[in-house]
Amino acid sequence: MNAAASRYGTAVTRVAASTAPPSSQRRDRGTLRCYTGRLLTSLIIAIDGPSGAGKGTLARRLAEALGYRHIDTGAMYRAVAWKAHQIGLPLDAESELAELAERADLRQEGGRITIDDADVTRAIRTPEMDHSAARVARLPAVRAILVERQRALGDGGGVVMEGRDIGTVVFPGADVKLFLDASAEERARRRAHDDAHSGGQQGSVDRLKTDMAARDQSDSTRKVAPLQMADDAIYVDTTGVDADEVFARVLALVTEKATGEL
Ligand code: DC
Repeated sequence: MNAAASRYGTAVTRVAASTAPPSSQRRDRGTLRCYTGRLLTSLIIAIDGPSGAGKGTLARRLAEALGYRHIDTGAMYRAVAWKAHQIGLPLDAESELAELAERADLRQEGGRITIDDADVTRAIRTPEMDHSAARVARLPAVRAILVERQRALGDGGGVVMEGRDIGTVVFPGADVKLFLDASAEERARRRAHDDAHSGGQQGSVDRLKTDMAARDQSDSTRKVAPLQMADDAIYVDTTGVDADEVFARVLALVTEKATGEL
């Protein structure tokens, strides 16, 4: 593990899964199938890392290439925060927020994010929602519900799931675990040019860098499931590497890993 990786590995206490291990850990490896001599139906691919590291782009492209589902777990925390705002629920009302998280009809289809039939694809990508989602994500009762829902979504495999605790808590038995990172400068620059992220922040890289650092701090130091690299994750530094190159490298790696296990 290099110095950058150790920021997420050794500095923070490892958090164990709070409930029984997901069935992915008990899956029979013999059920993996090989298509056209290359890939495979049922892997669980976990991608963790701080914001702006390139998780979304990579996860989307991998899912597309493999014919897998792409689950953006950050969008689930964001959608719950958005709904709380809509109905005037305070962001410290933990049990009410957990109930909201449990009952909400949360969907991710074709790149659209909906909660209870409201399309929030763009509405959840604002500076206000960045902040609110980080607050919601600190609440253990909300996390417990969303982690269960994430396990239910990914348990059958054939999924690329991105977040902060996928390889450590949601699917500690994931077939492939990646931890994406990049320098703070580059992550802020990418976010500033991310069209999906509204808020008129283009150009204010310094401001974004400060905001991201605060959120990274919140995500990395919270008591429950802090952002942390799993011991068996592959650390991928995307600083100065374009999205095509990251995708090509990771696809090769996943293929290697999958065929090696068949
Ligand atoms: O990845 P994102 O920026 O859309 O995530 C929104 C917030 O939710 C962010 O503060 C990190 C948090 N989060 C989390 O705690 N656990 C996850 N699995 C995914 C996101």
